Amino acid sequence: MLRGLLIKNIRCLVQTEDVPKLKVCGKEMSELRTVENAWLYIRDGLIKDFGEMSRIRSGETKFNSSEAEIIDATGRFVFPSFCDSHTHIVYAGSREIEYSDKIRGLSYAEIARRGGGIINSAKKLHETSENELFAQSLTRINEIIGFGTGAVEIKSGYGLNLEDELKMLRVIRRIKGSSPLEVKATFLGAHALPPEYKGRKERFVDLIINEMIPVIASEDLAEFIDVFCDDGFFSIEDTERILMAGMKYGLTPKLHANELGFSGGIQVGVKYNALSVDHLECTGDDEIESLLGTETMPTLLPGSAFFLGLPDPPARKMINAGLPVALASDYNPGSSPSGNMKLIMSLGCIKLRMLPEEVINAVTINSACAMGLSGSHGSIARGKVANVFITKEIPSYEFMPYAFGSNLIETVILKGKIYPPTPLKGG
Ligand code: NIG
Ligand code: FE
Repeated sequence: MLRGLLIKNIRCLVQTEDVPKLKVCGKEMSELRTVENAWLYIRDGLIKDFGEMSRIRSGETKFNSSEAEIIDATGRFVFPSFCDSHTHIVYAGSREIEYSDKIRGLSYAEIARRGGGIINSAKKLHETSENELFAQSLTRINEIIGFGTGAVEIKSGYGLNLEDELKMLRVIRRIKGSSPLEVKATFLGAHALPPEYKGRKERFVDLIINEMIPVIASEDLAEFIDVFCDDGFFSIEDTERILMAGMKYGLTPKLHANELGFSGGIQVGVKYNALSVDHLECTGDDEIESLLGTETMPTLLPGSAFFLGLPDPPARKMINAGLPVALASDYNPGSSPSGNMKLIMSLGCIKLRMLPEEVINAVTINSACAMGLSGSHGSIARGKVANVFITKEIPSYEFMPYAFGSNLIETVILKGKIYPPTPLKGG
């Protein structure tokens, strides 16, 4: 008989919900529900129940070790796993050469104009076999699991032609099949203009619409469609054409918007009911107004603003206006070579002036919502997938973003199982 998993004597169980919500907005973002001195019972990969240790009725069968494997979490906190709703984790090699150029003073746009940036990654990806790309990506996947991530969105976009985009999307599918993470795939055909299409951007957009989208949809390789809608990359018109074509094939829009300029990307995302608009360094009153009352999740990527030295997006203004905010890592080789969501929380606090409660909501329930997953992930709620992590001994939940350089995650549980699984003895 399959035994359950009981975590008992938890100093504090964080982000609990009795009535699950899809997201939290505005003032609500500073509220965080917790249960102190708690237990959490997991069975069949799901959260079955939780409560206070003092309320255990004597003789309850789940507290009997033949019914459940028991973890004693004395002094430790339990959080729902992080949801990272924006990554480019499937890529080949790395771009630390550009890092030095950046330190010497070149901007992201200047590096891209010199053939660096996304084009550089596309070249490397072209020269890398699917198996090798899978192996490199899996190393990063295992790294983020150790950092506490339980659900991740992964974009294509370093292919820039059908064959290489398919290679990326197939690698994402293999990750889905072989990792305990919950994975969502996004087709980002319009990430950069390949050099051979210089001066012929419409033709490249035609290629995405007429050749790439139909094949990707017929192989069921993506659930979302993204465009880098920004100054110097793809225009509002390009974006609208691509989103309409993707939506015809059942792909849901998610956008890169307003990173490099007031591009109108936020408004176009809202117009097409995008699940999220991401980056948003250039956000003013009109953009905030357009997002209010919509289902589009504003998603900020403080790792890339930090790494590129961009002005920070106005998180406080957005939250004060009543908007929800999600935070994600943007893990990629050019603008955010880190998938450490605990560090993202710290940047949210330090750079974006978000409160610890707000950043915890932003990396759990709101970032789950930005992937369409908040019904099953992003909080400790009965019936949700049992993706949680147990911390080391810490004094408070605020300590997580506060101790910005420390690894405080001790045990990772994904789909109800401790990860990595302990090898069988004597086998
Ligand atoms: O989200 N802004 C566009 N795309 C990525 C960067 C990709 C790269 O530089 O490799 C981003 O920051
Ligand atoms: Fe990105």
